[in-house]
Amino acid sequence: MFVKALARSAGLSCLLFTGSLWAADVPEDYEYDKYNAEDINELCAGCHGSLGQGGGGGVYPRLAGLPQEYMEEQIKNFKTRKRVNIPMVPFANDRELPPEDVRDITTYLSNIKLASQLPEVSGRIDGLERLQQAEAVVQIPKHEGDLENGEEYYMEMCRGCHNKDGMGRGNKPAVTGQHIKYLKKQFQDFRSGEREHVDQVELFGEMTDKDIEDVLAFLSVQDD
Ligand code: HEC
Ligand code: HEC
Repeated sequence: MFVKALARSAGLSCLLFTGSLWAADVPEDYEYDKYNAEDINELCAGCHGSLGQGGGGGVYPRLAGLPQEYMEEQIKNFKTRKRVNIPMVPFANDRELPPEDVRDITTYLSNIKLASQLPEVSGRIDGLERLQQAEAVVQIPKHEGDLENGEEYYMEMCRGCHNKDGMGRGNKPAVTGQHIKYLKKQFQDFRSGEREHVDQVELFGEMTDKDIEDVLAFLSVQDD
């Protein structure tokens, strides 16, 4: 009996120990280090783009402008495997990306503002400058679908938290300006239970494939 209890408590403390290793917290008085963030961003840029604009034809999500708390939470979820993300595994542990680094990079990315349209050319502008402007633009191409059904579904089910125009609010991420391919995978993951979302059965349980396409169509034109 005693041995068994001892073994169990040893097992438990071991679990708790790895738990704290994998999702530790930032000290309360931690100060944001922009230069550290810029260094870390070089690791992320290969997939998410140097300005957090996303990439891989929309497989890698846009991170620029997402709420800092939201991104920090997601990285914690990758670390604890609550949210499964194979490509990010090498970055999703405390040894490679300790909590202070997570705080820095998410603060940095959250502060990047991208436009949805190229600014008008006024006067002479050189090619390089135009290229840099173009890099800081994410324009989501129009997605095919029934806009009316998409709007109805969105307004009834999603608007309360993600806002009328899909720009999000507080720690609720924007769903407008995000890449369609990525969003589609998230909708499917919410529906199947692969990824968690608040009230997911009510919100996604009865979402048909057609509803998914239609809501995506609606979101794709909100940044026009
Ligand atoms: C090898 C490619 C790759 C690299 C490098 C990478 N990521 Fe990711 N990341 C992904 C993929 C793929 C997803 C989306 C997973 C999914 O579909 O759920 C993702 C998702 C995320 C998300 C969640 C976004 C959301 O809207 O929920 C955050 C936050 C994130 N990455 C941060 C980072 C940071 C910070 C770095 C650098 C330290 C980084 N990633 C490096 C591939 C990568
Ligand atoms: C009760 C509030 C609420 C409602 C209603 C809601 N959401 Fe969310 N949504 C959230 C929160 C909070 C998150 C952050 C993820 C989490 O739950 O941890 C989120 C995350 C998401 C994400 C992930 C974004 C990313 O970058 O990965 C998508 C996509 C999304 N919601 C789509 C929808 C859609 C589509 C609807 C309507 C069918 C909807 N949500 C309704 C609160 C809500």
